[in-house]
Amino acid sequence: MLADDSDSVAVTPRTAVVTGGASGIGKATCELLAADGYLVAVFDGDEIGARGVADAIGGFAFALDVTDERAVVATFERAVNALGGRLDALATPASVGDATPFMDLDAATFSRLYHINTIGTFLCIREAAKHMRPGGRICTVASVAGKHGGGAAGTAAYAASKGAVLTLTRSAARELAVKGIAVNAVAPGPVLTPMLAGSPTLVERLAEPLAIAEAIAWLLSPAASYVNGETLTVDGGMRLD
Ligand SMILES: NC(=O)c1ccc[n+]([C@@H]2O[C@H](COP(=O)([O-])OP(=O)(O)OC[C@H]3O[C@@H](n4cnc5c(N)ncnc54)[C@H](O)[C@@H]3O)[C@@H](O)[C@H]2O)c1
Repeated sequence: MLADDSDSVAVTPRTAVVTGGASGIGKATCELLAADGYLVAVFDGDEIGARGVADAIGGFAFALDVTDERAVVATFERAVNALGGRLDALATPASVGDATPFMDLDAATFSRLYHINTIGTFLCIREAAKHMRPGGRICTVASVAGKHGGGAAGTAAYAASKGAVLTLTRSAARELAVKGIAVNAVAPGPVLTPMLAGSPTLVERLAEPLAIAEAIAWLLSPAASYVNGETLTVDGGMRLD
């Protein structure tokens, strides 16, 4: 259960770090949080993309590979300084997809997906938590593939990395509740972003990135103050069969 956050004074603006903020769901999340009044630090391996988003929303851009542990530590330090010494929210959409056919999957590909999608998420949660006060909120980004297995042929390594993100999220929620920090996940269905453009998935309707960003923004907001360790599936009901 979450520790009491009554001693966290609501000061505006709220501040957030968004990983993978240069594109797709991360970009939409940066834009929505900024529209909601947050000061946002945009993290991405794509430095030019991050700068473009940050400039458009009046935020700060940081080039970061989320698998580089030392860089993650240093970049959170710099970002929290830029944000005025306070961090209220973290969203972690930074990830890569993969569609290698199952029998062609090798350990190197599997490790790469796990390293970026799962360990990269872990490192960012840990560093964000160092800077958060009670009331801090974290939202990871998994996938329906992490709940049900890869939805399309060739997505086993991706699905496994996202299943691990879901387990990581619940573990972090348990560990960080004592600090008054909540950790939840969204599990999107297919979304119209560059990541899906290269995949063979066939669906009747793709979500816009904003539909996922809305769920993330709610989980990061004080409105979700008693929600912790949950997964919010945002898939248009595709699993209602
Ligand atoms: N698009 C979909 O259909 C879909 C469905 C379910 C879940 N998701 C998840 O949503 C999240 C966002 O996906 P998207 O579709 O917006 O993808 P995207 O490819 O548009 O954006 C991902 C961003 O992450 C960045 N990134 C990748 N590796 C990085 C690294 N090592 N360090 C820092 N940044 C890195 C990329 O540069 C890119 O800007 C991902 O976690 C993805 O798995 C997407």
